[in-house]
Amino acid sequence: MFFKNFLFLPALGFAIIFPPDPKIFEGVKEFNDWRVKRDELINLTDYKFGWPDFACETLLTSGDVPKNVHKITPSDIGIIAALGDSVSVAQAAEAETVSELLNIYPGSNFVSGGDVRLDQQATLFNIFHQYNEKLRGASSSRIKKFYDFNFAVAGQTSDQLVNQTLKLVERLQNRLPIEEFQNSWKFVNIFIGHNDFCKICLNSSQIFSAQQFGKSINQSLNIIKENIPKVFVNIMPPINVFIHEATHKTLPFCETVHRKTCPCILELSEVEFDSIKKDYDLELKNVIEKIGRNDTFDVVLSPAIDLDKIPQIGNTSNLAFIALDCFHLSSIAHDISAKQIWKGLFQYVNHKENVDFETEDFSKVQCPPKECSYLRTIENSKNCQYSLPTGQTRELLMGGKGKTDGFSGISLFFILAMFVVGTTLILIFTKYSFSTQNSIQSQQFENERRRLLPIARTDLDDNLF
Ligand SMILES: *[C@@H]1O[C@H](CO)[C@@H](O)[C@H](O)[C@H]1NC(C)=O
Ligand SMILES: *[C@@H]1O[C@H](CO)[C@@H](O)[C@H](O)[C@H]1NC(C)=O
Ligand SMILES: *[C@@H]1O[C@H](CO)[C@@H](O)[C@H](O)[C@H]1NC(C)=O
Ligand SMILES: *[C@@H]1O[C@H](CO)[C@@H](O)[C@H](O)[C@H]1NC(C)=O
Ligand SMILES: *[C@@H]1O[C@H](CO)[C@@H](O)[C@H](O)[C@H]1NC(C)=O
Ligand SMILES: *[C@@H]1O[C@H](CO)[C@@H](O)[C@H](O)[C@H]1NC(C)=O
Repeated sequence: MFFKNFLFLPALGFAIIFPPDPKIFEGVKEFNDWRVKRDELINLTDYKFGWPDFACETLLTSGDVPKNVHKITPSDIGIIAALGDSVSVAQAAEAETVSELLNIYPGSNFVSGGDVRLDQQATLFNIFHQYNEKLRGASSSRIKKFYDFNFAVAGQTSDQLVNQTLKLVERLQNRLPIEEFQNSWKFVNIFIGHNDFCKICLNSSQIFSAQQFGKSINQSLNIIKENIPKVFVNIMPPINVFIHEATHKTLPFCETVHRKTCPCILELSEVEFDSIKKDYDLELKNVIEKIGRNDTFDVVLSPAIDLDKIPQIGNTSNLAFIALDCFHLSSIAHDISAKQIWKGLFQYVNHKENVDFETEDFSKVQCPPKECSYLRTIENSKNCQYSLPTGQTRELLMGGKGKTDGFSGISLFFILAMFVVGTTLILIFTKYSFSTQNSIQSQQFENERRRLLPIARTDLDDNLF
């Protein structure tokens, strides 16, 4: 998040090859102790990633794009975007050595991660992708994709959110086909403020005040509303960074790192941080309550992983949830975040659950409730009139998965008759094709092939940027 002035870690990487300075060497020793401890806890946690057996009904729409934000199901989301800081680009999540601690891994971030399949690690992208094969917005750790709409930047504070938002608007306008820009529903995730907390002791009264945070969020939301048609914004309160202090007692490495990367954890007390966090939460709540909603724009607050302490194992912090830099989310935590946000999307506004590590079974697939599969907004939380745009009954549209008795009402004779008719038609068609084949010029065939080409090119483009 905040490695801008961080000279310590590169020095460590250097020291592994040339260990001249005993002080640096001491640091390396601390690092190895910490890594062993963390490895033990990862082994002990034995976490099951992703949802290998995802089997929710996914045909949740009639194909018409809804006009109303209170009536969108996961299948209606066409674009995923993200704004925020290092957490939303998965800094250090997959790091295994000191030299990797500054790396970001956007391909597996909890919002737009597109390098991982749902059976490997859950991300909102790969969950929503189950519902819409044409979903855009995947991020990759290897390349910058053409349709990557993740504008989160490691180290950024909330005062830079407005700039991120402007870039998002511009990219959506420039890269999406105009029809899609106008009509496709966009899901924008905002998660920022951690760097504000880390710097708040340096200049709390001005740049990093709760009021300034609220102002930036409000401005950003208003830009989104005015410039992006059809959008659902999921906004997450920043985690109180003071929870990391619990690691200092047992792990000197963590304290050393925090001193460099998030000094306010050591400068301010728990009470002070509690009060700062409360102010930020109040501002956020206030902005969201007062925002000018309408039928094509809504904002929902998602607590999801708003932790008040690092989850415990026995009587210590479970470091399996923390990346190797002792600060960011580990891959396990990214998996949990995606699952908890997803689950929360179908819980009433103001009743969305914060993650509960004691009771939650993260391997259990969370399907949207059948009685109301809309992403919840204030309006449809009060009263969910679940109906589909064309007026067809839900059962007719639900086909596919979960329906195994589709033929029960049809007589065997009818099926046989259809089989005979079908086969005959295929035979006639095949014969016709063969008899006319000679007259089909290879030029025509070539034309047909060319007509099909642009489809493949779209995929190609997606990998060029
Ligand atoms: C964790 O498990 C792996 C694979 O089972 C093993 O190789 C490694 O030594 C274990 N690490 C610790 C610290 O127990
Ligand atoms: C936003 O971007 C503009 C132009 O790129 C830049 O001048 C300005 O400093 C940026 N604002 C912040 C808060 O980073
Ligand atoms: C805090 O920030 C304000 C505005 O940028 C600046 O005028 C002030 O000097 C800063 N104070 C400290 C202690 O850095
Ligand atoms: C919602 O507000 C935005 C921004 O003012 C506007 O462009 C859009 O048309 C509005 N939607 C509806 C359904 O009124
Ligand atoms: C958010 O911004 C709008 C437009 O600038 C303003 O009218 C509104 O009062 C602001 N909301 C809050 C809570 O400050
Ligand atoms: C709990 O902490 C104490 C020291 O504070 C330690 O001796 C003990 O082994 C710990 N128990 C567990 C279950 O980790």
